[in-house]
Amino acid sequence: MKPDAASLTRLRAVVDASGWLDDPAAMAPYLAESRGRLHGEALAVARPRTTAEVAALVAICHEQRIGVVPQGGNTGRCGGGVPAAGQLVIALERLNRIRAVDAAGDTITVEAGCILADVQAAARAAGRLLALSLGAEGSCRIGGNLATNAGGLNVLRYGMAREQCLGLEVVLADGRVWDGLRRLRKDNTGYDLRDLFIGSEGTLGLITAAVLKLQPLPRAQATALLVPASLAAVPALLARARSYGDGGPSRFELLPRLALDTACRHLPGCRAPFEPLPQWMLLAGFDGRDPRVQAEVEALLAAALEAGEIVDAVLAQSGAQADALWRLREAIVEAQPLLGPSLKHDLAVAVADLPAFVEQACAALAAELPGVRPYVFGHAGDGNLHFNLSPPPDMAPAAFLDAGPRLRELLHGLVAGFGGSFAAEHGIGRIKTGEMARWKSPVELELMRRVKAALDPEGILNPGKVLPPPA
Ligand code: FAD
Ligand code: MLT
Ligand code: ZN
Repeated sequence: MKPDAASLTRLRAVVDASGWLDDPAAMAPYLAESRGRLHGEALAVARPRTTAEVAALVAICHEQRIGVVPQGGNTGRCGGGVPAAGQLVIALERLNRIRAVDAAGDTITVEAGCILADVQAAARAAGRLLALSLGAEGSCRIGGNLATNAGGLNVLRYGMAREQCLGLEVVLADGRVWDGLRRLRKDNTGYDLRDLFIGSEGTLGLITAAVLKLQPLPRAQATALLVPASLAAVPALLARARSYGDGGPSRFELLPRLALDTACRHLPGCRAPFEPLPQWMLLAGFDGRDPRVQAEVEALLAAALEAGEIVDAVLAQSGAQADALWRLREAIVEAQPLLGPSLKHDLAVAVADLPAFVEQACAALAAELPGVRPYVFGHAGDGNLHFNLSPPPDMAPAAFLDAGPRLRELLHGLVAGFGGSFAAEHGIGRIKTGEMARWKSPVELELMRRVKAALDPEGILNPGKVLPPPA
């Protein structure tokens, strides 16, 4: 239904002149997603500055049954922020104040539009660590991080966005504001509403502010690039690493030869750490409150070498060397498009199953599409792999993309057999609703639909995202 002129005038009047965009050129950046595959349309883009403005916009949309698409930094990987014709994008980017830093209580209270890197910097300025860290941290925003329950590099030690959030302020589907901005570590007063909104990708409410947990700033860090004897050694190596440093590794990332080779050939600031490059490498980061962490990690490498779990390793000797190693991790995301179109899969299995899963998946893929190049990397420490695929070198891009559905079915079927997840980190958004219908149990889907109906009975919040249409 196209909203009438009077409703549009009322919506426009909620924000200041620069807070309303309806010119196609001005709206364009809000209509496409980070992978550049999906392009949407919208009624307009509203850029409120306050929670009251968000609430007023949503109240009018509720009354007029206008679909609302919240947006943060628009770095999401699943098209969750891409609007459809007739919907209003509410971009939270100007709701970006840091409301309070409580260094004694180890919390920071921020608005949804704050850029993650800015919140990290504010925490650091107060002598604290905000542990959430991901490749998009220079542009993603806290509301988006919580709405997607972002993971990233530090999950192993500090948990996902959910574990780093104590309280939320949320604009509900009818425009009322739920003030759940609590700084409490304990609060068993009934159902945990906060946890419903986290990871709901804008389908249950608009997050306008959050209380996040802070941690002590590590006094020392150690970074090591390891060459495992084989993938099969990874679980034992991780188990060993857990007893070193101050509480084990914070980061434990898998890097494959194909990705490092591509990055080191083509991208600035990337130098191959081994010659020739091994098939698999692990990049591990340890946080410590004690400078002895470097010596401890050195001892870990010696013990792992002795046990035959690794065959080679590099231990960074300076901050610059550590940065160069982490640059490799970041570069592999940038490098994959250089091999042609990519088919991305965001999978998780139990860490113990990871070697068998990767081995079986690679064999099955090779049988299905000979020459396909698995570009498998990511958060091995928590079992989450970006099981991306690049085309055989001589295959036409369109033919490769046509093979996407059967390769996805193969991988998701295998991951289901391991009791794993077909969407471990990036969420469902628009592109994986079909997979929800395919792989989620009817009971889970029905419970989710009931939650959606309870919180958004008119279905105005991010329509068409997360839940598949009823069968
Ligand atoms: P957006 O893309 O704007 O929105 C994402 C979803 O959340 C949409 O459904 C949107 O409607 C909803 N939403 C946004 N703001 C709100 C709000 N205030 N209230 C309610 N709903 C809202 N993700 C990871 O988890 N781990 C990684 O390691 C990682 N690395 C990445 C690296 C790169 C280079 C890139 C481009 C992306 C990466 N991502 C990663 C994906 C992405 O950065 C995360 O999903 C991030 O949390 C999205 O934040 P955003 O502000 O950009 O959200
Ligand atoms: C990463 O871990 O680097 C990202 O989640 C990958 C991506 O965004 O594609
Ligand atoms: Zn990731």
